[in-house]
Amino acid sequence: MEANSNIGLRRFIPVEFTEHNLRFYSFVLLLVVGIGGLMLFPMHEFKGYIDPFYSPTILILPLVGLYRLTCYAYRKDYNRHVFKHPLACPAYGRMDYRPREYTGETSTIFKVENLHRYFLYGSIAVLPFFYYDVYVSLFYTGSFIFRLGSLILLINSITITLYVLSCHSLRSLVGGRMDCYSCVKGGHALKKVYNGQSILNSHHEAFAWLSLIIIVFVDLYLRGLAAGLPIDFRLIP
Ligand code: FES
Repeated sequence: MEANSNIGLRRFIPVEFTEHNLRFYSFVLLLVVGIGGLMLFPMHEFKGYIDPFYSPTILILPLVGLYRLTCYAYRKDYNRHVFKHPLACPAYGRMDYRPREYTGETSTIFKVENLHRYFLYGSIAVLPFFYYDVYVSLFYTGSFIFRLGSLILLINSITITLYVLSCHSLRSLVGGRMDCYSCVKGGHALKKVYNGQSILNSHHEAFAWLSLIIIVFVDLYLRGLAAGLPIDFRLIP
């Protein structure tokens, strides 16, 4: 009877929440502290620099957060190192050898992760705002001025663009589902786009971590500026 009620419970609560796994709890705590901190201590704009976490609005943060959380690159890392499950396709046990049933793509977390392609569409829509923020910082005084902060915002925009353009879901969207390029109109051009995207895709994990580190750095940099640190200067003119 007790076993049956446990099985019933597991159908609704992701199994990761029902296990004693300090890494998982630390991971959740880090997310709550990070996202909660951003919402409680906003840093929208300082001297023409708009914080990328608030671009165009803090309301975008859940969408972008879900896009990152369901990213295949991060999935590999948190499944192996945080959940310790699954370690690889044929692995049915955890790294610490506790027996555990492998539920494949039927688990609740997997179902959420499979929404990744929809979060991709939203993230593509947000991309132009990062470049608009660079533009705003360049003309903050009314005429052109290129400061270190603008360069940092530009680097951040480029790494986020590379991260989004190298997405696995985008690869599937561009041509991964095609069986024959020459059989369709414009197939040749599509194949070229697909090949180009595949090159970016092969570096997706690096872009994922690089863009995450840089966006956190930009937020800290702007908070440092707002706190009065002398860490910005003119580059041009
Ligand atoms: Fe990483 Fe899509 S797979 S962003």
